[in-house]
Amino acid sequence: MRELISAEAIAARVRDLGAEIARDFAGAPDLVLVGVLRGSFCFLADLARAIDLPLRIDLVALHSYDGETGSDVRVLAGPFGSVRGASVVLVEDIIERGATVTEAVALLEREGARSVDVCTLLWKPSAGAAAGRYVGFEIPDEFVVGYGLDFEQRYRNVPFIGVLDDDEKRAAAGGG
Ligand code: IMP
Ligand code: MG
Repeated sequence: MRELISAEAIAARVRDLGAEIARDFAGAPDLVLVGVLRGSFCFLADLARAIDLPLRIDLVALHSYDGETGSDVRVLAGPFGSVRGASVVLVEDIIERGATVTEAVALLEREGARSVDVCTLLWKPSAGAAAGRYVGFEIPDEFVVGYGLDFEQRYRNVPFIGVLDDDEKRAAAGGG
């Protein structure tokens, strides 16, 4: 695996994002961080601890699949508590084409959130989707794993962001 972003660089950037969110939301009523399962679990845990404000944590589970009309996203579960009137920060692992984040924002708006701002660890600008208010890192159009992100449900526990070699991809896909 080729390392793209080190664990140390992630930690430093997450601390900065946390401080920025804390400044922006000081005094906001009912701040709720909503993580998108499963890829955001590492980022959510670290970001939450970098925000020195009272807040709530919630989760949504979305399933995306490639349908005939492009990428389709279905809501599987969540949010588990009320976000009515809340200032929501949606926490995503990565924005590629933007379908997942668009669906999650629409869900939280339907649930009555007062505001929804997007915080994504990674953004692939070449895929053409808008970035969101808070972005950890812009990355090239490569498939990445680690720090929550998977390939075929593996590699989420890798502590850095990396790019798989072809033989690792074959092994993870069950090809030997
Ligand atoms: P979008 O809906 O096209 O923005 O894709 C977002 C979702 O696709 C993310 O929540 C990830 O689950 C997945 N995804 C996109 N790019 C990558 C990648 O490079 N590695 C792992 N997962 C990815
Ligand atoms: Mg995902």
